[in-house]
Amino acid sequence: MEYTKVGSRYVLRLDKGEEVITTLLDFLKKEDIRLGRVWALGGMENVTLGLLRKSDMQFARRSFNQGMEIASFFGTITEKDNQPYLHAHTVVTDENMQAYGGHLFEGYVFPTMEVMVDVIEGGHVGRALDSDTGIFIMDFGR
Ligand SMILES: [Fe+2]
Repeated sequence: MEYTKVGSRYVLRLDKGEEVITTLLDFLKKEDIRLGRVWALGGMENVTLGLLRKSDMQFARRSFNQGMEIASFFGTITEKDNQPYLHAHTVVTDENMQAYGGHLFEGYVFPTMEVMVDVIEGGHVGRALDSDTGIFIMDFGR
């Protein structure tokens, strides 16, 4: 990964083999970014997507081992347990241009990934466990 900062925005290049969520979280921690948004395109392989299934409130997961085009990728940056927290969704496409989308659990960059991060300065949005759904939703309480 390499990146540059322009005002309150960053432009990043993630490189082949880097795990997307881990790499972005390492970047957010290093730059101490706690509120903002992420946008990206590029390609990934070994991608695992999820859908929170309402019937049992468990994540249905599906993995794609082949190279997939990132047709859309966006995420929110908030804060959980006093650390940056990234929530990312993506739409990836295969060689038939068939699209699959969902919550991104894991994906490995291939061949490259172009990322923009917009920082929202001076704000705080945390995460709190929602007892109804068992997920950590945005919390504006602090
Ligand atoms: Fe999600």
